[in-house]
Amino acid sequence: MKKKALLFIALAFTLLLSACSQSSSSDDTNNKKNSGKLEIFSWWTGAGEEDGLKALIKLFKEKNPDIPVENAAVAGGAGTNAKAVLASRMQGNDPPATFQVHGGAELNDGWVAADKMEPLNDLYDKEKWNDKFPKQLIDMVSKDGKIYSVPVDIHRGNVLWYNKKVFADNNLQAPKTLDEFFKVADKLKAKGITPLALGDKEPWTATMIFENILLGTLGNEDYQKLWTGDLKFDDPKVKKAAESFKKMLSYVNDDHSSRNWQDASQLVAKGDAAMNIMGDWAKGYFVNDLKLKVNEDFGWVATPGSEGQFMIITDTFGLPKGVKNTKDVKQFLSLLGSVEGQDAFNPLKGSIPARTDADESKYDEYGKQTMKEFKEAKLAPSLAHGSAAPEGFVTKANQAVNIFVTQKNVGQLIDSLNQASSELKK
Ligand code: GAL
Repeated sequence: MKKKALLFIALAFTLLLSACSQSSSSDDTNNKKNSGKLEIFSWWTGAGEEDGLKALIKLFKEKNPDIPVENAAVAGGAGTNAKAVLASRMQGNDPPATFQVHGGAELNDGWVAADKMEPLNDLYDKEKWNDKFPKQLIDMVSKDGKIYSVPVDIHRGNVLWYNKKVFADNNLQAPKTLDEFFKVADKLKAKGITPLALGDKEPWTATMIFENILLGTLGNEDYQKLWTGDLKFDDPKVKKAAESFKKMLSYVNDDHSSRNWQDASQLVAKGDAAMNIMGDWAKGYFVNDLKLKVNEDFGWVATPGSEGQFMIITDTFGLPKGVKNTKDVKQFLSLLGSVEGQDAFNPLKGSIPARTDADESKYDEYGKQTMKEFKEAKLAPSLAHGSAAPEGFVTKANQAVNIFVTQKNVGQLIDSLNQASSELKK
């Protein structure tokens, strides 16, 4: 086995040890070997997360009443706990029938490099999918010409959400640049309103803010060069982005470290904070759980400085090696990749369909606009969600950002990222 694959497994195991204690809502499912059920593994539980998955499973059950399905979701935003549970199961040759994995490095440099996934080119041929998904998306789930998973959605990671009433009451416009953001934030602060909601109980949310600022400050090309090692983290532009990040952190709620992303989004929903930066699963949460109205109660813009760019996060599902009920898994993947499956899932999830031929009329104003912008925008892979860089780097970057949020030491953040860059693909 390749050295990189071994390193990956070792890292996955370390992750497991650190997360065992916070484990899951599905402990009863974690040690089942080949239960015969179609076990669907994800981190979509609870508020804002599970509605799309439930709709997809319901549709699958209707169409396949004889296939027993088990929803084996493990709670924790961005897979905080699920990824560790998954790593242990893969290590123990007990893979779930299919599992949620981000397109990009997380899939290709992770499970594919570790030789844990079956190629799905035959399924793509059978379903005639090769021209139904955008080429860049197929590239994100392919390695050496083989396709390893099926994208169910496209989430946008560079969105600033704002409370429309708070903005109207204070005569403010949604900020499009960092300068505008800081002006708006100062006005809000002067009125005693928290400008920016953050919930970094799970550190990836702060990493999302940083990657958004990096994208806006560096531009698409240089942002991408960070992950190939062609732009160093001690570049002055990265330092400038870190300074802006530091400044932005001075506008967040005091209790940020005890909140998760839903708790932070709630502050905006209630008008206790004016804005938050979050992927568009937050829209699913605003609409499905908090019953807010799109473009009435809340509005959105690309995060300051990132207009015309699309931080892409795609949730995909594949077929792990060693799974017994291969036929059932492929049956599920066929539905997940179909127009019907995607249009059942995405309007609830907040995302847009991964397919290009989905039924636009099923999507709200945000969805329609995002579908259009996706076609025109420059795509950028998310670091916080595992697409830009291997898991080893993501873990260290999250740790560095987490320390930065309390210590606000730009030099230390840059040093830590530089050190972590040995984890990047050369
Ligand atoms: C992302 C995932 C999204 C959403 C989010 C919050 O990593 O791609 O679908 O679930 O985490 O948990």
